[in-house]
Amino acid sequence: MTFEPKILGFLCNWCSYAGADLAGVSRFQYPTNIRVIRVMCSARVDPVIILDAFLHGADGVFVGGCHLGDCHYISGNYYAQKKIEMTKKILDAVGIEVKRLKLEWVSASEGARFAEVITDFTNLIKKLGPSNFDDLKEELEAAKEAAMDYRLRILATKQKELMEGGNKYGEVFTKHEMDRLLDDMIKDELTIKRILSSLKKASSVKDLSLELNLSPPNVLRHVLDLKRSGLVELSEIKDSSPIYKVIE
Ligand code: FES
Repeated sequence: MTFEPKILGFLCNWCSYAGADLAGVSRFQYPTNIRVIRVMCSARVDPVIILDAFLHGADGVFVGGCHLGDCHYISGNYYAQKKIEMTKKILDAVGIEVKRLKLEWVSASEGARFAEVITDFTNLIKKLGPSNFDDLKEELEAAKEAAMDYRLRILATKQKELMEGGNKYGEVFTKHEMDRLLDDMIKDELTIKRILSSLKKASSVKDLSLELNLSPPNVLRHVLDLKRSGLVELSEIKDSSPIYKVIE
C-alpha cells in the first residue's frame, strides 16, 4: 500500500489561503494530503502548535504566508520566519527531520504556485516516510513544554530587533551569536523539561543521568537550579545518595 502522508497546513487568510482558493477555482491539481487551518497571519502559528501536530501524528507541517513586505499586519511574516527557525532547531534537537516543517510565501494571485509548492512538499514527505514518532513521544512532550518557556518565546519573537536594533544596552547580536544563544537555550530547556518529567518519580542524580543519557555534572547542575527555584525537593538520602523529586 502506498504511503499517504498526513500534512497539516496553516495558511494566512490574506495571501496563502486566497492562493489555495485560487488554485481550487482554477482547477490546478495538487495532492489531497493537506488539511488546512486558516489563520489570520503566519505569525499566529506558534511553535507549540506545530510540535503538537507532530505529537498527534502529522507527517509534515506546512505554513504559508504573504511574501516578505506584503504581510497584512506589516511585519507578521518576519516573526513567523523566526518562530519557524526556532521550531526547526527544536525538532532537530529532538531528532525529527527538519524538512518535515516548511514555511513558504504564496500570494493570493499565485494559485498555480500554491499547487506546485504543495505537490513538492507532499512528494518530499512521501520520500521521508511516515513520521512514526511513538518512541519520541516523551521528547516531543518535553519539547512542547520547552517551547512554552517565556525566555525562548521572547527570544524567538525578538530576534529581529536584537539583531537590528540591539538590546536595551545597545548591544547588537550577530546571526552567529543569536544562533548559539538559541541553541544553548533550547538544549537547556529540553534537559530541564526531561528532568522535571523524570523526577515525578523520585530519583538520584546518578540514575537520572543514566536514564536521560546525560553527564552527572550536567544533571546535578540542573537539579540544583530546579531545587533553588522551588520546583524540585530533596526527598530522602538513600545509600548516602540524595534522592530528588518534583514538588507536586
Ligand atoms: S497576513 Fe499573511 S503573513 Fe501576515
